[in-house]
Amino acid sequence: MRKNIVIDTLMKRRSVRKFRKQIPDDETIETIVRAGQQAPFTSQLYSVIFGTEGDYGFGAPLWFLICIDAYKLERYMRLRHLEIEVDDLSLLLLGIQDASYLAENMVIAAESLGLGSCFLGEGSINPYRVRQLTRLLNLPPRVLPAIELVMGFPDEDRPIRPRYPLAFTLFENGYPELTDTEVIEAMSAMDGAGSEKQTQFAADPSHWTEHIVRKWCQWSPSQEDLLEALSERGFHVGKPTDESKFD
Ligand SMILES: Cc1cc2nc3c(=O)[nH]c(=O)nc-3n(C[C@H](O)[C@H](O)[C@H](O)COP(=O)(O)O)c2cc1C
Repeated sequence: MRKNIVIDTLMKRRSVRKFRKQIPDDETIETIVRAGQQAPFTSQLYSVIFGTEGDYGFGAPLWFLICIDAYKLERYMRLRHLEIEVDDLSLLLLGIQDASYLAENMVIAAESLGLGSCFLGEGSINPYRVRQLTRLLNLPPRVLPAIELVMGFPDEDRPIRPRYPLAFTLFENGYPELTDTEVIEAMSAMDGAGSEKQTQFAADPSHWTEHIVRKWCQWSPSQEDLLEALSERGFHVGKPTDESKFD
């Protein structure tokens, strides 16, 4: 593998779940978000809200909420006397991409400045959390809380989590027939050193494939409730609607 300072930063990054109390200064926070903004985008379909005074996940001193934001797009389209015509599903899928590339740039920028971070998965798929954040943060219509990210100076040093073998991820010119042996090899690579489930307090002894398999067979938030929460935010997907996009 080739090496340089960027590749090294990417390869050494791991999620941090224990932080020092020190709040990163304003210049650091602004640098991280400015580097996030420099990610490729379709239409900068995002806004970033941050806090330094709450009780955030893993005791982190700094919390970001990255929202998918079609509100600002609508605002300037209206000034040009136009309306968004694209369907809400496409808008959401593009918004998720814009928000994700921004978020990952932020993670890597933070890493390069000596900070650690961890995404919190709940926000984007939990209707209760979507409604709670909407209320607490006074979000306008067509702004959807999507990605929660905590950050701070690390107070732990955990092993790097393994990844699938490259041959299980990178396919040349088409998708191969995967044999069970190849799947088993990929699973055992993931269950190697550093694969333990990470929690705030300790490494859970169960290995990655075990906890990931358990997670996906038990965890089933209601799709209807989630669609309802999206609809309340002004994104009408999954069911026919003739309501105005701007209600
Ligand atoms: C969308 C998303 C949601 C995540 N949610 C959580 C979470 O709720 N709690 C947690 O401890 N880690 C969470 N993570 C971190 C992943 O567990 C972690 O990135 C993954 O296991 C790989 O480990 P690494 O980041 O240390 O390389 C999340 C990551 C992503 C991308």
